[in-house]
Amino acid sequence: MEHQLGIIGYGGMAQWHAFNINKSLGGTVRIAGVSDIRAERRDAARADGLRVYESNEALLADPAVEIVLIATPNDGHLPLTRQAFAAGKHVICEKPAALSTAQFDEMIAASERAGKLLTVHQNRRWDSDFLKVKEVVEKQPLGRVYMLESRVQGSRQVLNGWRGAAVNGGGMVYDWGVHLIDQVLQMIPESVAEVYAQLFSVHCAEVDDNFKALLRFESGVSALIEVSMNCFITHPRWHVCGENGTLVIEDWDCRGRMVRLSDKEELKWDEVIVYTAAGPTRSMAPRPVETMEELPLPAVTGDSFRSFYGNVARALEGQEELAVKPAETRRVMRVIDAIFESGRTGACVKGPI
Ligand SMILES: NC(=O)c1ccc[n+]([C@@H]2O[C@H](COP(=O)([O-])OP(=O)(O)OC[C@H]3O[C@@H](n4cnc5c(N)ncnc54)[C@H](O)[C@@H]3O)[C@@H](O)[C@H]2O)c1
Repeated sequence: MEHQLGIIGYGGMAQWHAFNINKSLGGTVRIAGVSDIRAERRDAARADGLRVYESNEALLADPAVEIVLIATPNDGHLPLTRQAFAAGKHVICEKPAALSTAQFDEMIAASERAGKLLTVHQNRRWDSDFLKVKEVVEKQPLGRVYMLESRVQGSRQVLNGWRGAAVNGGGMVYDWGVHLIDQVLQMIPESVAEVYAQLFSVHCAEVDDNFKALLRFESGVSALIEVSMNCFITHPRWHVCGENGTLVIEDWDCRGRMVRLSDKEELKWDEVIVYTAAGPTRSMAPRPVETMEELPLPAVTGDSFRSFYGNVARALEGQEELAVKPAETRRVMRVIDAIFESGRTGACVKGPI
């Protein structure tokens, strides 16, 4: 069964949805048409061979449109989602779903009143780098993972267009932070006990262009999330510490290494003092290579558009639960609220979240 999708806001991300849907989702989802408040974006949609509605209202009035994708700047998500539910449509909202938990609660209430599905495009749940880390956390080839660091770092310094404006819900917590938080909550099935964050506005006066957030889960497992716009020598995308080994994934191409303690008895490392360039040390002495073994990274890879839209279609047909559930997004929004609160007060925000 093919489901017809109307897209509100035909900017960079919506064009990427359209490209991927047209390339590989025939038979599952078809684009009925798009609307955008800017003439140049309506022209871009026509040039891409898409039907253009004269207004959002015209798109919402079309009975052929079953699902609406909201892909406007972030401050438009709540009012447009409300409008789409009032018109009896199912809604896929781009991330961040809303600017606060309170706003997202309004979206959930509108969805329940309309009896229509609400989901959020948390496409990075199907990124290959994330899926590899998730497998390591779950299958524990390095022993229990107790700390992971997830970073996205660039050096463009300025945020483009509306992303630099507070009124539009700009800033890096909403832009990339929301993905990294969602990924971490997917990997660690525990409640968040506390959140501590530091936000910086290094080059963007109105919004955060760099932040670090530390999440501690109830068992003590911790995750450091960092996004920067002013980093000229980057850390790896992922650094994961297990009890008996370490995983590093450098980048989105998944270059990386996984090293763990060899379990061969004869390779036990004696307690020796090693004389390094920094002087003698036992605790920080470089480990002999023969006491470690290199493991291949998990082979798992993702295909986000197929997985996301395939799931939405099956959920509409009653065959599956939604992959991205409102309750999960609500937790992400609560962590975002806690990050802003901690950034503002300088204090650690207690859960459980
Ligand atoms: N999931 C992802 O990986 C991902 C990646 C990029 C962007 N996004 C999200 O997608 C959304 C759009 O981002 P973008 O980079 O495409 O921005 P963009 O500025 O390129 O596009 C937004 C479009 O919305 C239009 N618009 C604004 N208000 C509107 C309204 N009331 N009605 C109709 N159209 C309206 C604008 O004219 C513009 O064409 C944001 O929420 C962003 O966070 C998600």
